[in-house]
Amino acid sequence: MAGYLSDKTIVVTGAGNGIGRGIALACAAQGANIVVADYGVRIDGSEPSSEVAEAVVTEVESVGAEAIAITGDVSLMEVGQQIVDTAVDTWGRVDGVACAAGIVRERMLFNMSEEEFDHVVSVHLKGHFTLFRAASAVMRKQEGGGSLLGFTSGAFVASTAQANYSAAKGGVVSLTRSAAFALRRYGVTANCIAPAATTRISENVPFEIEAGDPEDIAPLAVYLLSDASRDITAQIYTCTGSRIAVWNQPAELRHMWAQNDGVFTVDEIAERLPSTIGDEEMPMFGDLERRMQEMENRNTGAGESG
Ligand SMILES: NC(=O)c1ccc[n+]([C@@H]2O[C@H](COP(=O)([O-])OP(=O)(O)OC[C@H]3O[C@@H](n4cnc5c(N)ncnc54)[C@H](O)[C@@H]3O)[C@@H](O)[C@H]2O)c1
Repeated sequence: MAGYLSDKTIVVTGAGNGIGRGIALACAAQGANIVVADYGVRIDGSEPSSEVAEAVVTEVESVGAEAIAITGDVSLMEVGQQIVDTAVDTWGRVDGVACAAGIVRERMLFNMSEEEFDHVVSVHLKGHFTLFRAASAVMRKQEGGGSLLGFTSGAFVASTAQANYSAAKGGVVSLTRSAAFALRRYGVTANCIAPAATTRISENVPFEIEAGDPEDIAPLAVYLLSDASRDITAQIYTCTGSRIAVWNQPAELRHMWAQNDGVFTVDEIAERLPSTIGDEEMPMFGDLERRMQEMENRNTGAGESG
């Protein structure tokens, strides 16, 4: 099949629903063989079912492409390895990996349990590591390298009631940049999309977001997984479907040197820091009260008393 991904093999985690499903179908329409990896869980990660991934395999096959379902939990190393082994054993290669599996367990930080924190970090951040680890070992040795595509969120900057999700998504950004940095010499790219789309995950956000349909994220994903973007790596792109934006690369802004024997004292810092390097305004503070109020109004149990 002709297209941006002709004869390529693409793994999509979270391909059973929402954004991942849209990417799996779009990659298939562009000529790829697809590993549809999905645990088939509810939004909080509970009640796994194999039917979700199998249904998308049927949809992929209906556009004339080949697909295989893997229905395990991507936070497990053996599942990441199984997914990549399946691609290689079936089609001989793994050209691209898109990690769109995700869950949410919303709670204010001071009420969040260890289990709620670990679960979300493990599905999102470890769920990227398991795939990036297994796939990069193959990609670095195969002709043409490969493409790793992470899914972060604008919430990586900060979140009121999802510190677990925000921390995981910040980790995904750093993991992706590290993958891009370490794998550049092997022809492997790594980028992230921070999507906004109307899915069961975004339905729960208690404030207005700029979001299109889940399928609208797929064109950018296809592009970043294709040979057309081989020069693009270590980038984070917001995508709402109708708007794509590139994020800045973190860098120090201003610095000061210690004056007394090269070592700072608390007194010197207190005297000089505010007037020399100062601090940086956090833009999200401007919207904080509205977001807190909307969350309280929604009264989901994730608020101060939840
Ligand atoms: N929808 C948005 O607006 C939005 C915003 C920011 C970030 N994101 C991110 O985009 C990605 C896709 O989100 P979505 O809105 O399509 O979500 P979704 O809930 O529609 O789909 C997520 C899929 O991941 C699967 N999944 C969950 N845990 C899994 C696990 N352990 N192993 C394998 N599969 C698992 C689920 O079964 C589900 O099919 C997620 O990483 C999400 O955090 C989405």
